[in-house]
Amino acid sequence: MQILNFVTFLFVLVYPNGFSLADDTNVQTCFQCSQPDYSVNEGTTFQNNLKTLLDSLASNVVDNHGFYQTIVGKKGNKVYGSILCRGDISSYDCSNCTLGAIRDALNDCPNSKDVSIWFRWCFLSYSNESFFGVMETTAFAITNDTDFDDPSVVPEGFPFVTGLAAAAPDEPFLFKTAVLNVNQSGKRYGMAQCTRDISGMDCRSCLDAQLVNFRTVVGNKRRWEVYGSNCFMWYNDYQFYFSASSLLSAASRASSCTRLIIGIVIGVTATFLISDSLAAIHFYRCFMSGDVMY
Ligand SMILES: *[C@@H]1O[C@H](CO)[C@@H](O)[C@H](O)[C@H]1NC(C)=O
Ligand SMILES: *[C@@H]1O[C@H](CO)[C@@H](O)[C@H](O)[C@H]1NC(C)=O
Ligand SMILES: *[C@@H]1O[C@H](CO)[C@@H](O)[C@H](O)[C@H]1NC(C)=O
Ligand SMILES: *[C@@H]1O[C@H](CO)[C@@H](O)[C@H](O)[C@H]1NC(C)=O
Repeated sequence: MQILNFVTFLFVLVYPNGFSLADDTNVQTCFQCSQPDYSVNEGTTFQNNLKTLLDSLASNVVDNHGFYQTIVGKKGNKVYGSILCRGDISSYDCSNCTLGAIRDALNDCPNSKDVSIWFRWCFLSYSNESFFGVMETTAFAITNDTDFDDPSVVPEGFPFVTGLAAAAPDEPFLFKTAVLNVNQSGKRYGMAQCTRDISGMDCRSCLDAQLVNFRTVVGNKRRWEVYGSNCFMWYNDYQFYFSASSLLSAASRASSCTRLIIGIVIGVTATFLISDSLAAIHFYRCFMSGDVMY
């Protein structure tokens, strides 16, 4: 995807939307839109293809164990789309998160052909250019700059997530959770996941790159999350993830949840166009409140 390498730098935008690392509510963490292309309008072939694509992602993500990619259209109007749900959430939450991501993507990036939108529980991206199977190491980290972990835990915490990053790529769904027993009362919880269009080897490289890039930022923190385009990690001092999910189990079937889909409305209006100065660059915004994003 045409993505600027902005994500390894400190974000200066702070949005007080109640984002917290102390609970696992499903909030949007970031979105990224390509430069607006004002030929992307209601009724154009590209827009119709995009609508078909988004409908297809929403309809198929649960049946495909929380990961689905598809392509719609031909030649100049081709659109590639991908959706990944976090491996621990329910089929209902996966479906609902997908619908929320689609809605926000269309609201936040109405004229963009290349869009990525991160929620805690799912990651949606689409583009007019192929990105399937191509590992990207761009990522951003969210942590609270002053929420240091107990000094006794720090030497164990980072090796623990390093071990998790090494093990997750061997899992069939490139998804793994793990618990670190600090002592009788203290535990740390980790989770790692990759998109399933990349190989296990690329998954490992992707997670390793995150740990290298963000080690100084997250290595001594009690809570953190890292979001990329192909790999993701979470670390916290309570069990933030769900312990059993229907999504990844072999028995997973289409649930009534997919009937949540009531048609996706694509509205492109002049009132939502972003300013010219912002239009000159990729537009992005990430959310936090007090927690610092790198
Ligand atoms: C569905 O997702 C939206 C956000 O997109 C959220 O506000 C809502 O609470 C979710 N509904 C349920 C039942 O989880
Ligand atoms: C994708 O869209 C951008 C912006 O409109 C355009 O510059 C680029 O050439 C397009 N790529 C393809 C493969 O059509
Ligand atoms: C960040 O961590 C500090 C120290 O633990 C805490 O006092 C503060 O409330 C945290 N900030 C947020 C936004 O959670
Ligand atoms: C156990 O670990 C927790 C969390 O790190 C810490 O707060 C607590 O003091 C430790 N307890 C003992 C007995 O070492």
